[in-house]
Amino acid sequence: MYKIHCLNNISPEGLALLTDEYELTDNVEEADAILVRSADMHVMDIPANLKAVARAGAGVNNIPLDKFAEAGIAVFNTPGANANAVKELVLAGMLLASRDIIGGVEWVRANADDENVGKSAEKAKKQFAGGEIMGKTLGVIGLGAIGAKVAQAAEALGMKVIGYDPAMDGITVHEKVSPTVEFADDLAKLYPVCDFITIHVPALPATKMMINGEALAQMKDGVVFLNFSRDVLVDDEAMAAALESGKVSAYVTDFANPAVVKMERAIVIPHLGASTAEAEDNCAKMAVEELMAYLERGEKIHC
Ligand code: MLT
Repeated sequence: MYKIHCLNNISPEGLALLTDEYELTDNVEEADAILVRSADMHVMDIPANLKAVARAGAGVNNIPLDKFAEAGIAVFNTPGANANAVKELVLAGMLLASRDIIGGVEWVRANADDENVGKSAEKAKKQFAGGEIMGKTLGVIGLGAIGAKVAQAAEALGMKVIGYDPAMDGITVHEKVSPTVEFADDLAKLYPVCDFITIHVPALPATKMMINGEALAQMKDGVVFLNFSRDVLVDDEAMAAALESGKVSAYVTDFANPAVVKMERAIVIPHLGASTAEAEDNCAKMAVEELMAYLERGEKIHC
């Protein structure tokens, strides 16, 4: 009998896949395997019997990979399982930055007691007029599971898409992402021509703070920048300065970092990219399947 501990809430649809060989335990110290979402595992001691950890999500920066590798503990993640949810929120972010939906909703709420609120909409139409994303250029940095989906959806909405991924060449991008995505082999070619830029790369030493003052300075004036990947990718002090000067017209981010959280042109969301019922089910199912394959057969999927 293997004992599984959930460090976070894990979708019951995933847990239901566990067979009779498994039981859930509230005591992490007796766990053979751990299911985790966002809990920080860097701060915990390694349970004596721990053999594997599966993260119900793509990023693994909440897991001490070196420490676990040294201890012979396998670590799994669930790439692609929440990609559609993140893609949809990125699209929503582009639309929120283009149309002042938030301003409009706040205006209606503030005037809700005025029985003529509907009739005074003329003023609001002018105040909250926006732009369209169709015909605009989107730069996608990182064309993995999420970036590729964002690129395809943006093309379907009539945007021109320029993609950059250091692990891909133009042929691969055309085969795996879309034949009509323009491939940039250098970010210096993508930055100056995009109206919107979205980043979908993992948090690695090489990507930390890659969106810094120097990168922002190369972007088009008034660019909309979206970060639904990891907070450490963006230098938020530099982003705040770019918002202040108008270099960046809107920063849509899934990370509530202090430097930007109160800024008028920042649309800050509390890490909800993967928070849909569907994505949570998909991630939990994949994570549970990975643990069972490893514990029963030594198979390593997405390790
Ligand atoms: C991910 O890495 O896929 C997300 O951080 C998942 C989550 O929100 O838990």
